[in-house]
Amino acid sequence: MHNSLRLEDIEIVAIPEVVDARGKLIHAELDQVLPFRPERIFVIYEVPDKSIRGQHAHRQLCEFVIAVRGEVSVTIDDGQRTKTFLLDSPTKGLVIPPRFWRSLFNYSLDAVLVVAASTKYNADDYIRDYEQFLEFIKL
Ligand code: TYD
Repeated sequence: MHNSLRLEDIEIVAIPEVVDARGKLIHAELDQVLPFRPERIFVIYEVPDKSIRGQHAHRQLCEFVIAVRGEVSVTIDDGQRTKTFLLDSPTKGLVIPPRFWRSLFNYSLDAVLVVAASTKYNADDYIRDYEQFLEFIKL
């Protein structure tokens, strides 16, 4: 589904927010906000200053990333060009399709990232070598 996406198709997605006197709530529903049915969630938090995470691509996996607290920068690389996004609000989501190299950096100390993933964890789905990534996307 996402394999044909181009770098220019990747944009911040607006996540609906409901605010009332009791606080705030965000929600992401299949097809409206979430372009896939998640099989897994994971959360990244307490990232030490200057740490860079990611630095890999996926063969099949699609991810949806929200910084529910704090902020992080995400660079998406299609092998030729890059685009960098700032996730600094729970109302901003980023879909990272397969076949793009990603780096997550400039984590604020309070950053908490919630990631919905389209498949269960599979170490074989990772491409951790950039040269190998460049070869893979030619296929
Ligand atoms: P990794 O995906 O490399 O983290 P990042 O891309 O943020 O740098 O995962 C770090 C470790 O956590 C790695 O040993 C695999 C493990 N892990 C799981 O066991 N299950 C998961 O769902 C995820 C995302 C990671």
